[in-house]
Amino acid sequence: MRRIAQETINRVLEEVDILDVISQYVDLKKRGQNYFGLSPFRSETKPSFSVAPDKNMWYDFGSAQGGNAVQFLIEYEKISFPEAVRSLAEKYGIEITELGNKEQNNLYDQLYEIHELACIYFENSLKAASGSKAKKYLIERNFDDNIINKFRIGFASDSWDSLVKELKDKFENDILKKSGLFSESKKGPLIDRFRNRIMFPFFSLSGKVIGFSGRSLSEKEDVKYLNSPETLLFEKSKIFYGSYQTLPNIRKQNFAILVEGQTDFLRLVEQGFDNVLATSGTAFSSKHAIALKKYTNRVILCYDSDSAGINAAIRTSYVLLQNGIETRVLHLGNGDDPDDFFKKENTTKEDFRTLIKTAAHPISFIITQKEILSQGAADQSKFLNECIGEIQLVPDVMIRNDLVRKLANQLGVVEAEVFERFSNLKQKRYKSSHKEEVSPTEITHYNSSEDKAQLELIKLALHSPTLATGMPLALFSNKLLYNVLKVLIDNSDKDYNPGQILELIGGSPEQRNLIASLAIEAPDKAYQTVILSDCINTLERQPIKKEIALLRDKIRRLEEDDSSPDKALLEELSALQKKLQ
Ligand code: UTP
Ligand code: MN
Repeated sequence: MRRIAQETINRVLEEVDILDVISQYVDLKKRGQNYFGLSPFRSETKPSFSVAPDKNMWYDFGSAQGGNAVQFLIEYEKISFPEAVRSLAEKYGIEITELGNKEQNNLYDQLYEIHELACIYFENSLKAASGSKAKKYLIERNFDDNIINKFRIGFASDSWDSLVKELKDKFENDILKKSGLFSESKKGPLIDRFRNRIMFPFFSLSGKVIGFSGRSLSEKEDVKYLNSPETLLFEKSKIFYGSYQTLPNIRKQNFAILVEGQTDFLRLVEQGFDNVLATSGTAFSSKHAIALKKYTNRVILCYDSDSAGINAAIRTSYVLLQNGIETRVLHLGNGDDPDDFFKKENTTKEDFRTLIKTAAHPISFIITQKEILSQGAADQSKFLNECIGEIQLVPDVMIRNDLVRKLANQLGVVEAEVFERFSNLKQKRYKSSHKEEVSPTEITHYNSSEDKAQLELIKLALHSPTLATGMPLALFSNKLLYNVLKVLIDNSDKDYNPGQILELIGGSPEQRNLIASLAIEAPDKAYQTVILSDCINTLERQPIKKEIALLRDKIRRLEEDDSSPDKALLEELSALQKKLQ
């Protein structure tokens, strides 16, 4: 992503009304100076999420995170910093100035443009007379214009070079190759990768086309679905088909229906189940789970009910559970996939809704599908160990215990027995697989009176920036708080809001959250001057206290050596002690 000029970031944070931005996602009510609502990041019944419009800051007391309008979008939409700034700038009509490596910018820009032009080209081809066969196919499969337009479905004609011809005068060959939409062959240095296929575009979370999956229209073709290769824009291990359109619904409904194919996805959307995602030909990875978990921690798996689908569902269940996502499995039976299910006569949305509600616990699903209960004791024991091997990789203790309980229950063994095997095996595996995930987190403690005074002063300075210039910067011993005060003092003539200051400070998320928590709580105006002088006093006493400690130490050592303490030293000590009174 290209770098955005600081001046653009500044303008966004100055001009964008944080209340307006957040109100689009959270129902906010005014209480005192701030606004409160239910946290969009966790489920809760009492509002603990607050917005301070005058400071351009928000803070979620429950999850202890906060920031400015840009950080809200980053957290909520799960987009990058530049994407969030860009999205706000576009919405509020602020011109974006970009910096950085021109060539690289140019490459990304061109790759996005190639994909957009290709998508338009495929869409047009589907609408043209030459696309009538493809159009007929879609109609026969019951996909109407609504779905076609919403998901920008298109058609790649049965030709070696129609897309090449469309794009070759606009882009260099190397760049066309990097897009993944072409391949080299005996027929030419560059030929269309997708031929005679219905084209399903994949979108980035900001809605840009980044890759395609093409379904063959010819029965003779071996590869039913051909996908874009991994490219700079298309990272397969964390992409879902349809996420741009459905992630907001998933967040709202707080669960996702996960299916295998594009057509299953589209069928469910068409039937009104719009909180769906498709894995589309890639194995479900931890990266998928991590991406999904930002939106929900509940998944209903509805893979094909053939044997490949069942195995994939078992595998995926474990990956989901191991990433803290509660999982249920909706097994359609009869080898059906969701698209087949709705193709049948007499099946209704209501039927599917019931199936969602009654979807199986993953352990029950596995035991049923593998027919464990009809096996002998030795095989059951082996199965139990295998399951425990997976379950011990589940970090969430509630989910883990639930799985163990279910396992014991279904196999008719006592829970304690499972837990015992569990702890024996645990020592072997848990350590090795989780070692790398522990990241060194910077932990800052604010316990001493000196630290607390600095915190209080920063709180005051964030609320009344004019106070910053009167604070003793040199006495700030905490590096983060020193930096914050320095930025406040350096910019005291600029009338920045705390949200803007936050960007100038940078720092780790922990530090940002701390500053947001300080900015959001208004200090009591009545005590402002008292707090100010008390805290400054605490800090000013600090060096004196240190000096006294040193002096005492010196005097004590002299006494130990039996030489009587220097009179001058004693006087100095008493003078210092007076200063503290
Ligand atoms: P399926 O074979 O179940 O396809 O593969 P489908 O969705 O039921 O297809 P239709 O209904 O016949 O059109 C499930 C998914 O696996 C991926 C595709 O994303 C497909 O939707 N897949 C399948 C591939 O990537 N390549 C293939 O060759 C086949
Ligand atoms: Mn299928």
